[in-house]
Amino acid sequence: MNSSNTRPKILVARRIFPEGIERLEAICDIDYVDQIEPLTKVELAQRLIGKDGALVTGSERIDADTIKDAKALKIISNIAVGFNNFDVEALNQRGIIGTNTPDVLTDTTADMGFALLMAISRRLSEAERWLRDGQWHHWEMGRMLGVDIHHSTLGIMGMGRIGQAIAKRGLAFGMNVIYYNRKPLSKDLEQACQATYVDKETLLKNADHVMLVMPYSADSHHFIGAKELAMMKSTATLVNIARGGIVDDNALVEALQRNQIFGAGLDVYEGEPKLHPGLLDLPNVVLAPHIGSATEKTRYSMMNLAIDNLLAGLAGQKPKTMINPEIWGK
Ligand code: GLV
Repeated sequence: MNSSNTRPKILVARRIFPEGIERLEAICDIDYVDQIEPLTKVELAQRLIGKDGALVTGSERIDADTIKDAKALKIISNIAVGFNNFDVEALNQRGIIGTNTPDVLTDTTADMGFALLMAISRRLSEAERWLRDGQWHHWEMGRMLGVDIHHSTLGIMGMGRIGQAIAKRGLAFGMNVIYYNRKPLSKDLEQACQATYVDKETLLKNADHVMLVMPYSADSHHFIGAKELAMMKSTATLVNIARGGIVDDNALVEALQRNQIFGAGLDVYEGEPKLHPGLLDLPNVVLAPHIGSATEKTRYSMMNLAIDNLLAGLAGQKPKTMINPEIWGK
């Protein structure tokens, strides 16, 4: 057992499950931000001072300013697979380890992509609102006509772990799967997904359903804007389970208002949790509050992996899922 003066000091920057706090308490002295509201940037920087490690979520922005006065910091563990909230270069300059939570959420997030694809294609949210509104009096031939998912063409933008898991779901629906990625998959991986690599324009013009699963970076900012939306079929759907900012929400709202595409299923937004006000008035969009990985099992797995990473880093061991392995041993 560590004596109290050698126990690492950590910040847990947001409320997590109690079992996580119990695990950490056995080893660390915790400064626990037991709330669902994120700290401000200034508060976060202050609370990091004197800490050896921190457990954060995708809402905490970690950059040179936030870690400037945290001289003891060895590791920051993100409870998310996406780490666009980390300035990795700033971490590297200070030799601070950054970690994320890949793999444990792949299938759960792929399920969510498919859920949004199915919900928007078959107009489920719109149909339920209409039914709850007391408008269902007769069966009607032309009521709530959707677009087919089965045997259509699924276009996946970003063919990492989650993209590949979505492709495999598409195969089970008899879909023709095309994808765009910074570079094509190896032949083996392509074969496993039976997916065909195409360029961005070919994907947008041919897909019946466009699914965005790429990481967010300066390169993918507004990857889908007015020009790209104009290339899509008028019967196509767009699903974003990746990050807000990949889609230009203003352009999307305008395209949906004009019925330029069939509809969109969104789990992430520019500037979330604020939403573009136009989205709320549109019938042809299904909106979810960034819950792609939100099943009990997966959220526990994410928390436990993030804790494993944090404790390993604090103990001088290489964490399982480092985002900057290039600094290990330096
Ligand atoms: C969620 O958005 C994540 O990156 O895990």
